[in-house]
Amino acid sequence: MAVRIGILGAGNMAVALGGKWARAGHDVLIGARSAERAEVSAKSIGARAGTFAEAAGHGEAVLSAVGHAATGEVIPPLAELLAGKALLDCSNPMVPGPSGLVLTTDGGPSAARTLADAAPGAHVVKAFHLGAAGVWAGEHANGLGVPLCGDDADALAVAHTLVADVGSVPLAVGGLERAGYLEATAAIVIGMWFADQDPRTMLPAAEHAHG
Ligand SMILES: NC(=O)c1ccc[n+]([C@@H]2O[C@H](COP(=O)([O-])OP(=O)(O)OC[C@H]3O[C@@H](n4cnc5c(N)ncnc54)[C@H](OP(=O)(O)O)[C@@H]3O)[C@@H](O)[C@H]2O)c1
Repeated sequence: MAVRIGILGAGNMAVALGGKWARAGHDVLIGARSAERAEVSAKSIGARAGTFAEAAGHGEAVLSAVGHAATGEVIPPLAELLAGKALLDCSNPMVPGPSGLVLTTDGGPSAARTLADAAPGAHVVKAFHLGAAGVWAGEHANGLGVPLCGDDADALAVAHTLVADVGSVPLAVGGLERAGYLEATAAIVIGMWFADQDPRTMLPAAEHAHG
């Protein structure tokens, strides 16, 4: 069934995920602060363009793809429009540090928690943050496990659909209070990719997990 999806932001993740969702038959509207960028990005994937408020109002599900640093500015004015909806958070709040990627949220709430606090009536689900935009846009998303953290069963069900519609496999790994663990996992995994290490080599097959 077609889902109305609003996307906040018109960058790499908006185009990658929005493109897959549009091709799967969903009704996608990309909202951005720049009308021109929203128009160009939306046109490139056969979606519609608008403002942040139009995207938030349009979506039964809304993807926040503006980045953690922009949450405090972009989200609070949309809180009423986002109430009751699944709000997907793909952000990676991290910067390079002296010995690898560092979470900008270290010692404080996760980026997903901050998003939830900025839109108190919305149902936040952490999703899609572990893969690069190029992965979501292409065939390497096929069969990929996508860990999800969220508290609301209906929002998680929508997230499951949207994960399946990029060709991937949803993996529920807990409530929103665990989203910080997923964000920390990304700092390690993405740091390893940058260092030309393969994180997959750390993990035995599940049937051999205990020896
Ligand atoms: N790129 C990846 O491979 C990847 C993978 C996993 C997760 N992520 C996460 O996904 C999120 C989006 O990444 P991206 O690569 O798509 O970013 P991007 O290409 O830089 O796009 C960001 C979008 O957010 C908008 N934006 C940023 N700050 C804003 C502000 N203060 N007010 C209003 N709009 C603002 C930008 O608008 P302007 O064009 O006007 O600046 C742009 O439309 C980030 O949290 C990132 O950590 C990215």
